[in-house]
Amino acid sequence: MARGKVIVAERIDDAGINLLKEELEVDIRFDIPRNELLEIIDQYDGLIIRSDNKVDKELMAKATKLKIVGRAGNGVDNIDVEEATKRGIIVANTPDSNSISACELAITHMLVGSRKFNYADSYLKAGNWGREIFMGNEVYGKTLGIIGLGRIGGLVATRMKAFGVKLIAYDPYISDERFLRYGAEKKETLDDLIKEADIITIHTPRTKETIGIIGKREVELMKDGVRIVNAARGKLMDEAALYDGLKSGKIASVGLDVHDEEPRYSSALYEFNNVTVTPHIGATTFEAQEDVGITIAVQVINGIKGDIVPNAVNLPGINRDEFKEIKPYIELMENLGKLYYQLNHEPVKNVEIVYWGDLMKYDISILEVAFLKGLLQPISNERVNYINSKLLAENSGISIRQETMNEYYDNYSNLITIKITNNKNEHFTLSGAVSNKQEGKLVEMQGYEVDVKPSQYMLFIQNKDVPGVIGHVGTMIGQEDINVATMYVGRKAKGELALMILNVDSEVTKESLEKFKTIDNVIEAKTTII
Ligand code: NAD
Ligand code: MLT
Repeated sequence: MARGKVIVAERIDDAGINLLKEELEVDIRFDIPRNELLEIIDQYDGLIIRSDNKVDKELMAKATKLKIVGRAGNGVDNIDVEEATKRGIIVANTPDSNSISACELAITHMLVGSRKFNYADSYLKAGNWGREIFMGNEVYGKTLGIIGLGRIGGLVATRMKAFGVKLIAYDPYISDERFLRYGAEKKETLDDLIKEADIITIHTPRTKETIGIIGKREVELMKDGVRIVNAARGKLMDEAALYDGLKSGKIASVGLDVHDEEPRYSSALYEFNNVTVTPHIGATTFEAQEDVGITIAVQVINGIKGDIVPNAVNLPGINRDEFKEIKPYIELMENLGKLYYQLNHEPVKNVEIVYWGDLMKYDISILEVAFLKGLLQPISNERVNYINSKLLAENSGISIRQETMNEYYDNYSNLITIKITNNKNEHFTLSGAVSNKQEGKLVEMQGYEVDVKPSQYMLFIQNKDVPGVIGHVGTMIGQEDINVATMYVGRKAKGELALMILNVDSEVTKESLEKFKTIDNVIEAKTTII
C-alpha cells in the first residue's frame, strides 16, 4: 500500500519529523507561503501547522485528499473546525504537551512585572546603577485573579499557591469542584474578579465571547496598581485600554506573550518600561517542543492510517489515560461494525447498543462512532472515519439508540450488546467484550455463544448439528490450502443449527466459498475481511 503523504508547513521538533518519516512520505516546507500551499495541498493526506497558517474553507476546498490537520500546539483558532468536520477532516492538537511551559511563562511574566526585572536588566547593561527606581512588590499576600481555570489556569493556580497568594478565579464553564480542587475562590462574574485582584492572568481560549473580554470598562473597574498578564491569545485584552491604564498609572505592569497581530515588531505599548513583551514563546521550551512534535506526529500517522486519533478536537474528547483504557473497546466496536454488511445485505434501519458493567465509566460516544465507522466502511463510497461516521449514518437514515446498564451481564464485567434491525424488520445481534488480557472478543452472534478474537480474514459456516460436518469442512480447508489460526464451534442446543467461526491466515476466495457451500449439511458459508 502507498505510504500516506504529509506536509509539515511549520517547524516542529526533529523527534516528531523522524517519527513521521518512519511511517509516511514527508515534505518539510517550513514557512511555505500560502499561495504555494494552496497550489500543492491536493497532494497531501496530512498537514502539520502551528499558529501561522490559516486552515480555512478556501484551503480545505483544495485539499481533496486531506485526512488530518495536525496543530502542533494548543489553540485551534486558526482552523475552521466546523468546516473540517463537514468534510470528514480530523483536526488534532497537542493540548497537554505545552501547558506546563505556557504556565511557567505566565508566572515569569507575573514575577518579572512585579520586580521591574526587564527594565532593571536593560538599565544596568546600559551602564547605569540605581535601586530606588526598581522598587517593586512581593506577590506574597496578594490576590491573584485567574480568568479561565482550565489546564494552564489550573497549573498556574497550583504553582502560585506556593507563593502565598490568595487565589480567585472566574470560569463559568467548570464545576464548583474544580475551583475547590485548585483552592480558588469562585467569582460569579468577571467584574467580581477584576475589582478584587492585585494580579490578573488570563487563560481562556480565543472565542467570540473572550475577544476583548478585558476592555476599557474592565480596566477602569480594576484596583489601582493592578498587574496584568496575557500568555493565552492576542486580542483577549484591548491593547488600547491597556495603554490608557498604563498611561494613567492605574496599571502597574503588563506582561504579554501574545499580541493583537503576530508577528509584530512595534507597538505604542513598547514605550513603557513596565510593559514586558515576549514574541509568543509560551511553548518554546525543549521539553514542550519535543513532546508537541512527537505527539502531533503520532496523531497524524494515526489519522492517515485510519486509526483513532486521541487528540482529535472534532471527536468526543478523551484524555491520554482514558484513551489507553478505552482503546481495546474502540477496536472491538469497529471490528463488530465491519461484520454486519459482509454477512448481510439488507440495509440497516436502526442500531441499539447496550453497554453493561464496567463500561458505565467511559464516554461511550467514541464507541458509537467507532461502531458506525466499521458498519459503513464496507458499503460507503465516501471516506468514512471517526469524524463523520455518525453524520453519514444519520444521512442514510440509520437511527441509533444507546443505553448504559450499571449491572454485569452474565459473568461479563463488561459487555456490549448490539441489535441491528434491517429494512425488513429482521434482527441481527452481536455482542463483544474485552478480556483481562485487553483483547476484544466477539462473544455472541445471532444467539450463538462464541469466543472469538476477530481477525483480518474470517470464515463463517452455518451447518446442521449432525456428525461429520466439521470433518468435511476440515478436509475442504486442506484442499483449498487455507491455514486456520483458530476455530470456534457453537450451537444453541443439541440438534439445532451450529455456527463455526474460523480465523484464517489469508483471504478466502469466492471459488473456495462456493465449495464450502456444497458440503452436505452446510447451510451457509460467508467470509469477512476486517
Ligand atoms: P483549556 O481549554 O484547558 O482551558 C480554558 C478554560 O477557559 C476552560 O476552563 C474554559 O471553561 C475557560 N473559559 C472559556 N471561556 C471563558 C470565558 N468566557 N470566561 C472565563 N473562562 C472561560 O485551555 P488551556 O490549555 O488552559 O489554554 C489556555 C489558553 O492558553 C488558550 O488560549 C491557549 O491557546 C493558550 N496557550 C498559549 C500558549 C502560548 O504559547 N502562549 C501555549 C499554550 C496555550
Ligand atoms: C499554543 O496554542 O499551543 C501556543 O500558542 C503555542 C504555539 O502555537 O506553538
